Amino acid sequence: MALLMPFRDSLGTPLYEGSTKVLLLGAGELGKEIAIEAQRLGVETVTVDRYDNPPAAQVAHRHYTIDMRDGAALKAVVRRERPDAIIPEVEAINTDALLELEEEGFFVVPRARATKITMDRIALRRLAAEEAGVPTTPYKFASDPEELEAACEEIGFPCIVKARMSSGGLGSSVVFRRDQVRDAYETARRKARGYGGEVIVEGLCRFDFEITELALAHYDPNGEVGISFPKPVGHLRSGSHYHVSWQPFVLIDEETGASKSPLQAFGGQLHMSEDVTTRDLLWRSEHDGEVLSAETAREVEEQCYEIAGKVVRKLIGEGGAIEGLGIFGCELFVKVDEGGKPKVYFNEISPRPHDTGMVTIATQDLSEAALHVRAVLGLPIAGIKVLTPGAAHVILSSEDSKWAPGYGRLSRALGIPGVRVLLFGKPSTYKERRLGLALAISDDILDARRKAMEAAHLIEGGIRYGR
Ligand SMILES: Nc1ncnc2c1ncn2[C@@H]1O[C@H](COP(=O)(O)OP(=O)(O)OP(=O)(O)O)[C@@H](O)[C@H]1O
Ligand SMILES: [Mg+2]
Repeated sequence: MALLMPFRDSLGTPLYEGSTKVLLLGAGELGKEIAIEAQRLGVETVTVDRYDNPPAAQVAHRHYTIDMRDGAALKAVVRRERPDAIIPEVEAINTDALLELEEEGFFVVPRARATKITMDRIALRRLAAEEAGVPTTPYKFASDPEELEAACEEIGFPCIVKARMSSGGLGSSVVFRRDQVRDAYETARRKARGYGGEVIVEGLCRFDFEITELALAHYDPNGEVGISFPKPVGHLRSGSHYHVSWQPFVLIDEETGASKSPLQAFGGQLHMSEDVTTRDLLWRSEHDGEVLSAETAREVEEQCYEIAGKVVRKLIGEGGAIEGLGIFGCELFVKVDEGGKPKVYFNEISPRPHDTGMVTIATQDLSEAALHVRAVLGLPIAGIKVLTPGAAHVILSSEDSKWAPGYGRLSRALGIPGVRVLLFGKPSTYKERRLGLALAISDDILDARRKAMEAAHLIEGGIRYGR
């Protein structure tokens, strides 16, 4: 496989002959940021999604509403538009059609093969744990309930059963006893997007917090392709979706070399006020409120970079050369032992900007979306800087099936120093749908987290669901 996007020196004018064009498959809030960044460069921006007026379509030149799992529909749009880059934003895409389009010469970001492997938990686990050799919790695959029972016994209870193909936590369940295994198998099978019968079971990692490492494959100013590793993004979630993220994950005092603020970890006090669903957590971090040593923090960082780098190289590398471009959200679990020694475990990776990485809009010189656009167009990136500590907190809908919600209490939320708010413009709601994000910057991570939380909770309480 050869790299399909050459090092670029020029761009065209949108809507006219010679335009440079990107096609976004999926037009949610991540796509909206990608579209905005493409528009800033005068790149013609076309979006595709399963419904009308999704967030990214509202800032794009054109939009198509199709079922992206339908290969024929997908190919018809791509062959008509002939984009310079096809940028997947979601997993529910017909990846065989993407492989075919790549064969025809279209550039699928980061590469078609990587989009196919990363949506398949079994293929991805094999690639990461067995080929790249990165640490994961123990795992087994099973293709019927009996096999799964034996696999769960071997892994040990509690463990997590997941569908081979799914996202957003769909079809995953924690299993505590043997008599729950059949139900977990059925749930995974019913919710799976394909490969009906096969599931994966994983040992539970009682992590202290989670990290997303936004590894970036890109050209440098000399036209060489390499991988860069922005500072890890810390995040926490209690249910199936992420709730809060921050960057850097630990703030190191440059003068003393020590970490500045205490860790607010999984199940800790701050996490419990950020997310009311924390009541049912299976464990709580024993390191909540502790100040991580600078050495521990550095070790975590190094392990994050090493794991993300190894997996990305397997996904888009060929004989040492890197043959793909774009950002990857590598999800990692961090567990610190009693002596303060950290161990980072690989969870999964997605070849696109990551929900938790939206905090980079406030913290980095180039956001994850800006980096992605520059990288996939073949434009150089000379370096990535974190300019300030910051945090992001989701704004969720509490109601189902309401159209055109209104957003109130903005004056109070925006009155908090360092806060800004993203409202995605989603036309309708369902329970827990992400409608926006509160971002906060501060010279301290905890202060940023508290401000983002306050703003998000204010706005959540002020949503008008009338219709
Ligand atoms: N082995 C595990 N041990 C502990 N927690 C886990 C494990 N696997 C998953 N989780 C928890 O569940 C979350 C979602 O898991 P995973 O990333 O596999 O699901 P997903 O369906 O891909 O969700 P998403 O699309 O939101 O990332 C993780 O971020 C983590 O909080
Ligand atoms: Mg995940």
